[in-house]
This record gives sequence, C-alpha cells and structure tokens, in this order.
Amino acid sequence: METQRRLRATVENTIEYLPVESLETIAERLGVPPEQVAKLDANENPYGPPPTVIAALATLSDLHLYPDPDQRRARRALAEYTGAPFDRILLGNGSDELIDLLLLAVVEPGDDVIVPVPSFGVYLSRPPLFGARVVTVPRTETFTLDLAAIEQAITPRTKLIFLASPNNPTGNLVTPHELERLVRTGVLLVVDEAYYEFAGTTLQAFTDRYDNVIVLRTFSKWAGLAGLRIGYGIFPPHIARALWRVKQPFNVSVAAQAAVEAALADREWLMERVERIRRERERLYAALLRYPFLRPYPSEANFILCRVHDGRAHELHAHFLRAAIVVRRYDDEWLRDDLRITVGTPEHVNRILEALDTFPA
Ligand SMILES: Cc1ncc(COP(=O)(O)O)c(C=O)c1O
Repeated sequence: METQRRLRATVENTIEYLPVESLETIAERLGVPPEQVAKLDANENPYGPPPTVIAALATLSDLHLYPDPDQRRARRALAEYTGAPFDRILLGNGSDELIDLLLLAVVEPGDDVIVPVPSFGVYLSRPPLFGARVVTVPRTETFTLDLAAIEQAITPRTKLIFLASPNNPTGNLVTPHELERLVRTGVLLVVDEAYYEFAGTTLQAFTDRYDNVIVLRTFSKWAGLAGLRIGYGIFPPHIARALWRVKQPFNVSVAAQAAVEAALADREWLMERVERIRRERERLYAALLRYPFLRPYPSEANFILCRVHDGRAHELHAHFLRAAIVVRRYDDEWLRDDLRITVGTPEHVNRILEALDTFPA
C-alpha cells in the first residue's frame, strides 16, 4: 500500500506495453545458441547495416564530448534524403521517443488521442502516461480506416490521431484520399511511416501543404539499425519548434548521428537488401495462402499478419518456438487469432514453411 501511494495513478493503471525479448533471453530459454534462433518477432532487418556504417562507427572519435544537440549533420543528410526542409526535421532516440515528445508537447490531461485499431501498441500504452485518454476506433474487416467512425470520434478534446502507413501489424497503407479527408478535420495527424522503404510510397507531400500532418520514420527497419535507436520526423514548423523546446538536449547519441550519415551515404547497399526482403515477402505470402488453416493479409511492409483458423494461433506460435522460430503473437481482443511474421532471409522463409508442413492440420 505504502509503495503504491508513491506512484501516479496513471502509472498504476496504464496498460503495460510488453516489448519483445532479446535474442539472448530467447536463446537461453530455448536452450539453443543465439545463431540458431530465427528472430522474426520485431520486424528487425536480418541483414543489418552496411559494412561502411560499421566502419564509420569503429572510427568514431571525441566520445568524451556530448553529441550535437542540434543534430546538424544528420539533419542535413536527412534533408537531402527526404527532400524536406532542414528546419522541419528532428531526430529522436528511435521514433518511439518522438511519439513521447509529441505527446509531451501537445496533450493536456483530459485530452483525447485517437487510434484506429489494431495498430502499433505504443500508441495505446504511452498517451495515458501524459494524462490523455486513448479512443480506439476499430478498422474495417480488411483493416482499412473507418473514416466515418474516426470523424465521429473527434471532439474538441481530440489532439492527435495516430495513422501508421504501412500499418503495424496489418501491413496496409493509408491512401492519399483517406488522408485528404482526415486533414480536413484539422486534428494533428501522425503518419507513422516506419516501414516506408519497404512500401516505396509515402504521404510526405502532405507535410508541405498542411500544418496538421507529421511524418515519422525510423532507421530500425530498412537500415538495419534498431539497436542504435534512430528515428526522425518531418514536422509542421510550429510543432518542430515545440519539440526543440521539450526534447532532452542530447537525445540522439554520437554513434546514432554518425550512423545516419553513413547509412544514407550507402543507401544503394541498403535498398538492395530491402528489395530482397520484398521478394521474400511475396514468396512467403504466396506460400502461406496454400495452407488451409491460414489466412495471410497482403503487406507493404517487412512482415505479414496471418490469421490462424480454429483459435490455434497460440498453438502455432508454440510450434514455431519448438523449431527456434520466434514470431509475434497477441493477447488483445483484435489480434488473438493472428500471428505477425517478420520477413527475413530466404533461409528464414524456408524454415517457416518447413515448420508449417509439420503443424498437425
Ligand atoms: C509503426 C511503428 N512505429 C514506430 C516503431 C518504433 O520504431 P523505433 O525503433 O524507431 O522506435 C515501430 C517499431 O516496431 C513501428 O512498428
């Protein structure tokens, strides 16, 4: 009792977002060497970064100095990569941090944040910590946005709408037409393009035309740098200014800032791997369609959501685990019957298919 009273009520009551386990923890639990584990539960990129990025990191100097609080070199590289103005770009310690910074800058206690569900769990777990209420709006059968329902859910207290495109975990895009309609509500729209490079299409043009559209991106997926925690956003000027005020001065490390420059300088290497993953995604999708107990959903990202019939999703998850394959399973009401499989190397895909062949039908 005593210790509980020291905590804020929102911390006591908030939904806990359970991050995936580390490779080491999983390997230890399964009793196999880490290199035998196919870690396909967090949409990481098995190819990692190019050798040039590793070389740039190995030769970093001045590590006794704090990183550039203005992130100038990394922002210049990102301005060149995205075509967005330097002044409207800001980096975070992962795009996760940018989500927190936005909430910090924008919501007052009692405000609403709208999340079309199912979507990325962080959109549900973080807003209550800032005093905001999460209003979930179910997507349609095929996971497209229910625009009328979103519009109906908007009140004067609505501060943000989170729109992942491609959406995690459903893999589908927000269309320009859908975004156009939501822009007219005047609510600040967070278009989270964490998987942009795998989709090859972006809604970034909206950030030039409207002051209520934000685009978030990350180096965790396409650039194979999840471990360094690098996210960035393209923000309307007034939001960018607010974020500079609320962010910690040294939120992005020297290593992360250097990796941005090096990765963008070697984008051909990276995009060649992105292309391989896209090819494997199509091969895996076509193969999954052939199992009568599965229903894969088309995906524009580096993962495939797959419905498992007859309430056997958790059983299949355990079956994969026995083969040292880790995929994402869910306990929530929307995704209980689904598994999300990260698309890895051709060998990963082969292992998935071999395991499926021995799943008792
Ligand atoms: C839609 C979406 N946004 C953001 C993130 C977090 O990215 P980062 O590693 O940059 O924090 C993820 C990671 O899974 C994601 O799926």
